[in-house]
Amino acid sequence: MTTILLGIESSCDETAAAVVVDGFEVRSSVVASQIDLHRKYGGVVPEIASRAHIERIDGVIREAMEQADVTRDDIDAIAVTRTPGLIGSLLIGVTAAKTLAWHWGKPIVAVNHVLAHVCSPSIEAGRGIWPAVALVVSGGHTSLYHAADFDDITLLGQTADDAAGEAFDKVATILNLPYPGGPEIDMLGKKGNVKAVAFPRTMLKRDSLDFSFSGIKTAVLYHVHGPGKTSGGLEKLTEADIADIAASFQEAVVDVLVAKTMRALDQTGCDCVALSGGVAANSRLRQAMECACSQRGATFYAARLAYCVDNAAMIAALGYHQFQRGQTATLCFDAAAR
Ligand code: KG4
Ligand code: ZN
Repeated sequence: MTTILLGIESSCDETAAAVVVDGFEVRSSVVASQIDLHRKYGGVVPEIASRAHIERIDGVIREAMEQADVTRDDIDAIAVTRTPGLIGSLLIGVTAAKTLAWHWGKPIVAVNHVLAHVCSPSIEAGRGIWPAVALVVSGGHTSLYHAADFDDITLLGQTADDAAGEAFDKVATILNLPYPGGPEIDMLGKKGNVKAVAFPRTMLKRDSLDFSFSGIKTAVLYHVHGPGKTSGGLEKLTEADIADIAASFQEAVVDVLVAKTMRALDQTGCDCVALSGGVAANSRLRQAMECACSQRGATFYAARLAYCVDNAAMIAALGYHQFQRGQTATLCFDAAAR
């Protein structure tokens, strides 16, 4: 007997639906990105995001079911992102999931978006990879977890200010690169010299597993425009200078992310790392984390690229494990921004 979950995700600016069998076999994963709608504003505009979710969610769910070649009769449960995210966006997915669950007479599972990121490298592995230290790096989150099981995940540390993805996006804006900045800096970084500029590596206290990325963002700003200045410097830079800044910034962020993850391995005694979230798509981060893990004999799992950015396959996957444990919700649950 197989168990088939329909997953729905709408926490930020991706409208997504997926069909996942037994928690690991992704039959379909459809993601309608809104990047084009938000680009000219340099970030996600909540009101535009909610409206776009309303317009797209029906079609996205339909397409995920068609691609997976399933009908409502095949679906055993519906998993949906309940928290965290933009409240207006979350409500669209939650309302769609509740409506289908009620109309189809199916159980509903309420899923935490960040914990679904934590579990996403397991999809690729085809099994639970626990115990592991999990680093979730995205536009909204930079957090380290100790994951003992799908439903036993403890926060070890998180960012005190900007998320890593936010820092990539803001630095890209300083360098006049298109939104979202992460992929742009990743590409440019390959052409630049990582040692060109010694940007700060904020490690906080000796044992701290928390992060801070606002200092490096300011350091890039002053490097570009001059100490204490916030404009006028970009015109003087060549393309090679900009590539060097991108490479040096990325290297500093990667150094901190890898060092803190290794620190977490030391503190927890784990010998497995799970990397996920939008910034986990970063080629330099994947390479550096893999190298650091292999040097100390730790196993390294990264989410597949398609499951790094927001998607519903990870929601259905974690939803499956919650469903197996009897963790279903009633139709009365609320979406929550945090
Ligand atoms: O997980 P995600 O889709 O959304 C959140 O839940 O926040 O992550 C989006 C973030 C953006 O900040 C984007 O710039 C960053 O992930 N990102 C990257 C790369 N691809 C996406 N950052 C660095 N390198 C990349 N290749
Ligand atoms: Zn996310």
